[in-house]
Amino acid sequence: AGAYRIIMIRHGESEWNQKNLFCGWYNAELSQRGLDEAKSAGKALKKEGYKFDVAFSSVLKRANNTLEIILKELGQENLKYTRTWRLNERHYGGLTGMNKAETVEKYGEEQVKIWRRSYDVPPPPMTPDNPYYCQIINDKIYENDPPKDKFPMFESLKLTIERTLPFWNECIVPELKAGKRVIIAAHGNSLRGIVMHLDQMSKEEIMNLNLPTGIPFMYTLDENLKPVPGGSLQFLGDPETVKKAMEEVANQGKKK
Ligand code: 3PG
Repeated sequence: AGAYRIIMIRHGESEWNQKNLFCGWYNAELSQRGLDEAKSAGKALKKEGYKFDVAFSSVLKRANNTLEIILKELGQENLKYTRTWRLNERHYGGLTGMNKAETVEKYGEEQVKIWRRSYDVPPPPMTPDNPYYCQIINDKIYENDPPKDKFPMFESLKLTIERTLPFWNECIVPELKAGKRVIIAAHGNSLRGIVMHLDQMSKEEIMNLNLPTGIPFMYTLDENLKPVPGGSLQFLGDPETVKKAMEEVANQGKKK
């Protein structure tokens, strides 16, 4: 059933996820656990007989390496994939590099949940005194895009969706309509943006969505690119594992 299917995956755990730091546009590496998650995701996709014709990722290595590990597991390590800043994680602004639990101590759980999961409340802007300011704006992964005068200092989910959707509509949808088998390896919040759009989720609903690292999920879409009944967030993993992993992400923003 359904005219189109697409696989999406949040990158495996990063070293900054492991240290519970707000990461955003900082180009963190995958942790060993993240490498293992990517490998088991590749094995799970292989076991289900998946092959891909087209692959997309952000310009951040934690997502690129996740995709490359998966493609290697599928024997498709030579598949060229498209990297775009438009699939980057949401820019966490001034929170970048801060410990999530310490941020809870300072501002309270409610405020941190609003910064992490709300639709249109942005984090505070990144300022030049942020320890990672220079490393981010001078990172060669951003040398061509986005334009310097449009380089964000913070992003709400709304702002993230506004720069992800044009890429989804102009670059990903045509491949689906051409019958291509597509995979996207991206980030917790850029994927929350795509999910919110596909499922037409409300601002309240999106508050409660946490995406686990390294577990692929499928969308089955009708000819109007609307999810078919039961076709949303179909995780490739046992429900218990998925539920636990989602709770782990949510708890990163809780008091220790
Ligand atoms: C980050 O950017 O810190 C993570 O990749 C996503 O963080 P969040 O789960 O706190 O939104």
